[in-house]
Amino acid sequence: MTILDGKKTSADIKAEIAEKVKELKAQGKKTPHLAAVIVGNDGASKTYVGAKVKACELVGFESTLIELPEETSEEALLQKINDLNQDNAIDGYIVQLPLPRHIDEHKVLLAIDADKDVDGFHPTNVGRMALELPTFLPATPYGILELLERYQVPTSGKNVVVIGRSHIVGRPMSILMSQKRAAGDATVTVAHSRTQNLKELTLQADIVVVALGVAEFLTGDMVKEGVTIIDVGITRIEDSSKKNGFRLAGDVHFDSVAPKAEFITPVPGGVGPMTIAMLLKNTLLAGERKS
Ligand code: GUN
Repeated sequence: MTILDGKKTSADIKAEIAEKVKELKAQGKKTPHLAAVIVGNDGASKTYVGAKVKACELVGFESTLIELPEETSEEALLQKINDLNQDNAIDGYIVQLPLPRHIDEHKVLLAIDADKDVDGFHPTNVGRMALELPTFLPATPYGILELLERYQVPTSGKNVVVIGRSHIVGRPMSILMSQKRAAGDATVTVAHSRTQNLKELTLQADIVVVALGVAEFLTGDMVKEGVTIIDVGITRIEDSSKKNGFRLAGDVHFDSVAPKAEFITPVPGGVGPMTIAMLLKNTLLAGERKS
């Protein structure tokens, strides 16, 4: 069994990006600049955005964090987005999701300049991704592709089951892995809450990508020997034996699944750190495209 080490791989990618930034600076070119917008006080979202901004500092990027209160109107957020679209100093930016209920997510994503949409969530960029045109790939699926590629996990002709059909992970993952690409050429099934006989599907799978948000959902009896497991979930569960009172669990019951797996991502330290590394990669690309 090989652990797909996202922490190490993301550190390698960040080192590659930092090297590139040094070159840009030495050539007197512009330093890439990422902005992140967060609306409200969701603890997990704040942690994620904080990690993204910190990663920018680590590789030598400029970063701007824009924190807006929960009660921010849709109009005010759209105005902020318009400002970011016009601001030449900003190469790329993200609006952290989920947004408060009173704000229409689709309206917001549509307002982002597609050339600055380093999350790859704008309909134009989703379309470009589906058509295999150059674009910003969404960071989590992109990170998974990079992990599979760097560890040379075979994907061509393999059966992949993606559990979850979210716009951020499951749906793009299924599209990307069915395409002609290094970590692609797979036969992909998308499973979701209405799927019947899920276990029959996962038992046939060479690769299972679990992006459901249900702690320890996938158990050892649901997978075959030699399977590759990609665990996108990260949930806090109470654990009185821990000092802080909780532990982090993935969507995979690691202890029963890992003994059957050829490759598996841990939680934490698997897909999560890769997401941040690929956001940086997209920001670097946004800066290069502009210059
Ligand atoms: N919420 C959960 N994942 C993401 C992500 O990759 N980008 C943004 N903007 N919001 C998220």
